[in-house]
Amino acid sequence: MDAPITIAIPKGRVLEQLVPRLDAAGLDTGPLTKRSRKLIRELPPFAHAGGTHPGARFLLLKPDDVPTYVEYGTADIGVVGRDVLLEREYDLYAPLDLGIGKCQLAVAAMKGATYPPPTSGLLRVATKFSRVATRHFAQRGIPAEVLYVQGSVELAPLTGLSDVIVDIVETGETLRQNGLEVVEHVADVSSVVVANRVGLKLRRELIAPILDALDTES
Ligand code: PRP
Repeated sequence: MDAPITIAIPKGRVLEQLVPRLDAAGLDTGPLTKRSRKLIRELPPFAHAGGTHPGARFLLLKPDDVPTYVEYGTADIGVVGRDVLLEREYDLYAPLDLGIGKCQLAVAAMKGATYPPPTSGLLRVATKFSRVATRHFAQRGIPAEVLYVQGSVELAPLTGLSDVIVDIVETGETLRQNGLEVVEHVADVSSVVVANRVGLKLRRELIAPILDALDTES
């Protein structure tokens, strides 16, 4: 029998929305949702499309690491936000938008601040998305100094470290609670399925049915 299909799964808030989609695609997510610190969850062989599927291995990863595992063929397919794909370049096949994990990348500033600021100096931007931000302000013709921060990004304008941030906004609650507001939309974000190009060619009969099955809005 073929080796099991390896699926890179992002830990975190998208997982909750992803589980029903995997279930609907005929993959038993029992091993995935079990409370455990194990980072590999094995799904034994199962009946699928009139035959026997060799099963699956779920790799539980930080969302930013999913494309690397798929690009290098350690995982056959993975689920990743468009924000991650916008920030770094990967050689991946991205056949499917799952329509989950919907949010936006946006510029946010302190409530009431003038944006873009009237001064001719550099706009100071704090963000985890350095390349997205650099590209965005270059396209807007706004001179910007981009500072990399890893998390709690909203703190930067609150404390005077930066004028604005570029970050993920989902419900807007984090911005509201910290006195910030969106001043510019940068990009829409949702979760997509990515596949290793070579793996997809060599193991198409195993991977394609899973991609097809995932291709239904639930
Ligand atoms: C993200 C993002 C915002 C928040 C936005 O952070 O960086 O802080 O979610 O969500 P909201 O609009 O629904 O409030 P996350 O919780 O993923 O943690 P992080 O700060 O470690 O990136």
